[in-house]
Amino acid sequence: MNVELYERIWMWAASLLIVAFLGTIVLMTALHAVTPPSHFETVDSSNLVGNPEFANPGVRPGPDGGVVVTVVAETFDFSPNPIEVPANRPVTFRLTSADVIHGFEVVGTNANAMAIPGYVSQFTVTFPKPGEYLIACNEYCGLLHHNMTAKLIVKKEAP
Ligand code: CUA
Repeated sequence: MNVELYERIWMWAASLLIVAFLGTIVLMTALHAVTPPSHFETVDSSNLVGNPEFANPGVRPGPDGGVVVTVVAETFDFSPNPIEVPANRPVTFRLTSADVIHGFEVVGTNANAMAIPGYVSQFTVTFPKPGEYLIACNEYCGLLHHNMTAKLIVKKEAP
């Protein structure tokens, strides 16, 4: 079979690209494992009640005058609910799931992360606008996924 020179060059180039892309995925998986993008922290999802932090999800004082919010997602609820945080302060969310993968999105903001069983997802945001926000699960997690919501109350700072 006669294959044109240019066609042969393009076939080789395309093949090399595929090998390079697949190789990148394999390499990154081997080097970094597949974990939440924030950091690598595991938690025993079958024994959250035995975990000093996640047994009592809630809002605690954090560094820089902010707060740390520990959240457990479990079909089909978030705990705590509602979550009350101050405006204009760093709010660090620490999430995990007691069962399957859930999403945690504060609608209308850029606060958005996955709650993954066995791992802790962590991110810090500041909410400049006081008010009530909807927290929605944005990963399909079962029959009542569409009902899995919570409320975030951002309180105006005391003067
Ligand atoms: Cu939890 Cu969808």
